[in-house]
Amino acid sequence: MLPHPDLPGDPARIFERILALDRRGDELPRLYDQLRAVAPVWRAPVDRLGRPWIITRHADASALVRSSALIKDERLLGLAGVGAGGPFIDVMRRMFAFQAPARHQRMRSLVNRGFTPRSIEKLRPAVQALVDGLLDRVEPRGEMDLVADFAFPLPVTVICRLLGAPVEDVPRIEGYSTTFARRADPAEALTPEMEKRGDDATLAFVAYVKALIAARRAEPADDLVSRLVAIQREAPELSDDDIAATTILLFQAGHETTTNLIAKGVLALLRQPDRIDWLRAHPEAIEAAVEELLRFDTAVQISTKYAARDIPFHDETIREGDAVTFVWGAINRDPAHFPDPHRLDFERTNRDHFSFGMGPNYCLGASLARLEIEHAVLSLIRRLPDLRLADEAIEYKPQLHLHGLARLRVAW
Ligand code: HEM
Repeated sequence: MLPHPDLPGDPARIFERILALDRRGDELPRLYDQLRAVAPVWRAPVDRLGRPWIITRHADASALVRSSALIKDERLLGLAGVGAGGPFIDVMRRMFAFQAPARHQRMRSLVNRGFTPRSIEKLRPAVQALVDGLLDRVEPRGEMDLVADFAFPLPVTVICRLLGAPVEDVPRIEGYSTTFARRADPAEALTPEMEKRGDDATLAFVAYVKALIAARRAEPADDLVSRLVAIQREAPELSDDDIAATTILLFQAGHETTTNLIAKGVLALLRQPDRIDWLRAHPEAIEAAVEELLRFDTAVQISTKYAARDIPFHDETIREGDAVTFVWGAINRDPAHFPDPHRLDFERTNRDHFSFGMGPNYCLGASLARLEIEHAVLSLIRRLPDLRLADEAIEYKPQLHLHGLARLRVAW
């Protein structure tokens, strides 16, 4: 018996609907349920995605993490259909997230020190002050677009501060960053105009970051760019181009994900308002609530990795070189692991969602994201007691990998 008889029963057609960015709207969780039920062990016949194995069950994701036979590298750039050369590709190749294991590990460990739970904890007062400032500004209005007025400015300002970019440069950085991200978005076919715009934005972004590197080299401050410049003295293999690419990676990875999570988390709460009442009565449970919001509707719906050797998988074999796509959104709602998965339950005992990925590429910014979501959600429901949806029509951004809301109109 299919969980959703109104949806297709053929995995290829279900998958097509999952990829149909403009049409699937709020249907993802149901489509995921259907795919997990009909094809838990399955290779998607989609050449442009590398015919990946599709993982939708929590137990399979857990077993594959333990096997440590999956890696990420620059083959992913080919999958994103982003073209073969030029400034954009050069920068992407230098990002440690797309490098083969040995260099990935070395580069990541150089940056990691700025992201340990202890160093992130120091940001707590500054994050709360930013949240307070944003809410002071909107509170008298009685309504806002939660994405543009709240969920977006918070993470972008935090990441700029952490890296050492002056706050007044945020709009400029955002301009580069949006065009850069669009260049990498496999949802849209790449036109020569997009390619050119993306490459121009990349050159401007790199020039901006290199000026920042030069400024911090001349006068170090307490920020990540200064730290990387200092590390460079003992690690000559770290070039200015590497520092620039790392900085751009952190800008890109660090803001849209968190924006999306905050906005979709608030939407989930507004749709299950008894959860807001519960959280107001149990603010001490905010950490558990953040984990549940991360599980419920994650900002990164899929990640693809490659098999570094043959991996036995149920009655089949994932062959060396095969692509394996983890559908985090489906894994996080697997009823075999999370009972009643479509309900927000802040008292769950299982909190082992995969929203920050897994293994060596586990999200570097997980502690920072958790801190921002915690302060954003708690302050929002405390300061705006009558918070409600002002428009039931929900519009998503046309993306799957980075999944988020285009806007969210709320009132109080
Ligand atoms: C709610 C917000 C966020 C979510 C859901 C998220 C999710 C993820 C996921 C799924 C991955 C890939 C993991 C894998 O391949 O197994 C990732 C990687 C990464 N994330 Fe996040 N992220 C978030 C926020 C952040 C923030 C705030 C930062 C930095 C300031 C950040 C920096 C990174 C970096 C640098 C990587 C690449 C790590 C590597 O390849 O070694 N993320 N993130």
